[in-house]
Amino acid sequence: MDLMEGLLTRRSVRKFTDEPVAKQDILDIIKAAQYAPSAHNTQPWSFLVIENKEILKQFRHVQRSASFAENAPLVILVCGDTEKAFHREKEGWSYLDIDCAAATQNLILAAHAKGLGACWCGATPMTKPIEAIREMLHLPQNIQPFSIVVVGHPAETPKQPENRFDESKIHWA
Ligand SMILES: Cc1cc2nc3c(=O)[nH]c(=O)nc-3n(C[C@H](O)[C@H](O)[C@H](O)COP(=O)(O)O)c2cc1C
Repeated sequence: MDLMEGLLTRRSVRKFTDEPVAKQDILDIIKAAQYAPSAHNTQPWSFLVIENKEILKQFRHVQRSASFAENAPLVILVCGDTEKAFHREKEGWSYLDIDCAAATQNLILAAHAKGLGACWCGATPMTKPIEAIREMLHLPQNIQPFSIVVVGHPAETPKQPENRFDESKIHWA
């Protein structure tokens, strides 16, 4: 699939078949995520692949809008390491979330390129889901759950949007 075509045809998929996702496909899409840009090239991310049905069922309790994970073959939890990200504690900023967003976008686009379906479900910046996921998965305090990416073979073909291109949002100087 041409990159431009992939960018324009990717849609969030929330219904999946029972077909398992091949391990090599999981590794390939995570590889694409790891090629995302990051501030100062810190690559502060990690990826937790969750295939355990009992854990997948628990997502409805920690982030209600990700409850469809219970019917998916897997979730890839994109996490950020607060200690590794380029940040300035004294000034109160960190690039962690931005880096993890770039990785998440690569991940869902790579899934699309492989014919898989995926949906980015938010964790960060919602404080309650972050804490609930950390507790559910026993994550250390420096590991921040960033996004819950639900992945599988698509059992739906979401409608493509009419036209998102809006020239009025482009300004030239
Ligand atoms: C930061 C972020 C958080 C999101 N959280 C959820 C979510 O919790 N549950 C869900 O079903 N979709 C979630 N989505 C997917 C959006 O609803 C979806 O991207 C949007 O409706 C546009 O549709 P498209 O992805 O098919 O273009 C999220 C997307 C982003 C970028």
